Amino acid sequence: MQFLAHRDLGAVEEMDKPDCDPVLLDRTYAQFGLVNGAVAGWRRTWAGLIRPQLSASRPSTLLDIGSGGGDMPRAFARWAKRDGVQLTILAIDPDKRAHSFATAQPHQSGLSFRRAFSAELVAEGERFDVVTSNHLLHHLTPDQLQALLSDSEQLCNGIAVHNDIERSRSGYVLFSIGALPLRRSLIRQDGLTSIRRSYTAAELAEVAPPGWEVRAGFPSHNLLIHRASHA
Ligand SMILES: C[S@@+](CC[C@H](N)C(=O)[O-])C[C@H]1O[C@@H](n2cnc3c(N)ncnc32)[C@H](O)[C@@H]1O
Repeated sequence: MQFLAHRDLGAVEEMDKPDCDPVLLDRTYAQFGLVNGAVAGWRRTWAGLIRPQLSASRPSTLLDIGSGGGDMPRAFARWAKRDGVQLTILAIDPDKRAHSFATAQPHQSGLSFRRAFSAELVAEGERFDVVTSNHLLHHLTPDQLQALLSDSEQLCNGIAVHNDIERSRSGYVLFSIGALPLRRSLIRQDGLTSIRRSYTAAELAEVAPPGWEVRAGFPSHNLLIHRASHA
């Protein structure tokens, strides 16, 4: 069988193990910003899909799910300020270690962190104009993925954008080389495991419920997008 022909659901990321090295994990959270800035393509997604939902005169809200160390919601808060739009951000992650790292960073206006699953916010009747996640989908079981997408629909008044790695041999080779300098963290090891666990665009389209669109992101990423019917 060809390498990466199928998702490797048996591969487990170190960071998903409760007993992984806490020092390496904290360095991993700290390096996520660097890696996401280089490979996740959010500047383009912000400009094309999220910024148009926001306004300088009307306050909007954004929920980031599975925010880890919090680098993406921090970037969103910076970009909102730079673009002069009013945005309040809630970033959630159920992992105590991620929450501790994120809340130990300097406070940023308009951004708060909470240790929670998306289902808890649904139960509380929360609604947001924008719902995002980065590099979360490949961590989930098939049932968890369906639950996350259902929660996203219920939580979102506007647009939901889940950005994830696309499984490809070229992406695997490039990341394997590009991440070599990122030592003393789990980035390279977990990044390669992530690629093995990730979806191709066709696989994601197959499991996505009706109303969700898969769009190619760059480089080697997929965007899973849903727009609320009245948005
Ligand atoms: C690879 S990290 C990505 C962190 C961050 N989004 C980033 O890109 O830097 C995945 C995060 O998803 C969180 N996670 C795992 N399962 C989750 C779930 N069911 N709901 C919400 N977050 C989850 C993990 O705790 C972890 O912090």
